[in-house]
Amino acid sequence: MSFYHKLNLPADPLKPELKNQLWDLKKPGYSPRYSTQHFDAKQYIRQDIVDTLEKLGLPIKYFVDFGKKDVESARSFLHSDICYYNQKWTKIPMAINWDLTPGDTQFSWYDVGNLVPTDPPEPEINKLSVTIPQQHITKNFTIQLYKDTSETDYDRNNYDVSSCRLLESLRIEHSTAYLVRTDVPHQIIYRSENATGRMGISIRFDLDKVSTWDQAIDMLQPLIVN
Ligand SMILES: [Fe+2]
Repeated sequence: MSFYHKLNLPADPLKPELKNQLWDLKKPGYSPRYSTQHFDAKQYIRQDIVDTLEKLGLPIKYFVDFGKKDVESARSFLHSDICYYNQKWTKIPMAINWDLTPGDTQFSWYDVGNLVPTDPPEPEINKLSVTIPQQHITKNFTIQLYKDTSETDYDRNNYDVSSCRLLESLRIEHSTAYLVRTDVPHQIIYRSENATGRMGISIRFDLDKVSTWDQAIDMLQPLIVN
């Protein structure tokens, strides 16, 4: 079983007029973040994509915009995607991803062997008694890292996959939609010496709608190309 599938969706998920706006928010050099979560997805994502996914029972929860201007390389931590759900950290099974700029992006999945998953602290916001609008609870969506229990006195380098076994690797074609598995530990490596920067988009869904990889494949079957 593969950890990704190409999807029959448009080459660019963003409304054209808003793509430039997102790009302009990425300041070269000192951009404060490599990734930003957007909970006002319907403002940015093309209506036909919103509608197609809603018809399949998958309303968009939020999207993440990855990348920076003038970035030549980037490497994510080895991680799984998680959200705080029913009072505990829970793995998110899938995302729909695009790389919109040319470059070499490699998405790799690993068997982490003896490394153990480590959850972040419970989000403070969930301890509040007042009701917070969902779009403001960005801390509920984050990543789970992997710890080497033999290293007791210092933190493991979270980029290091040398003790892991590669399960599968995808070299992402830009302007192509992929269903990717996010509950299996993964790392994304981006390299480009001559591009002017990277923009990647990742659409995410509620665990209420899709909670396992098998369910994701069933629901998105009408869009799966291979
Ligand atoms: Fe991830």
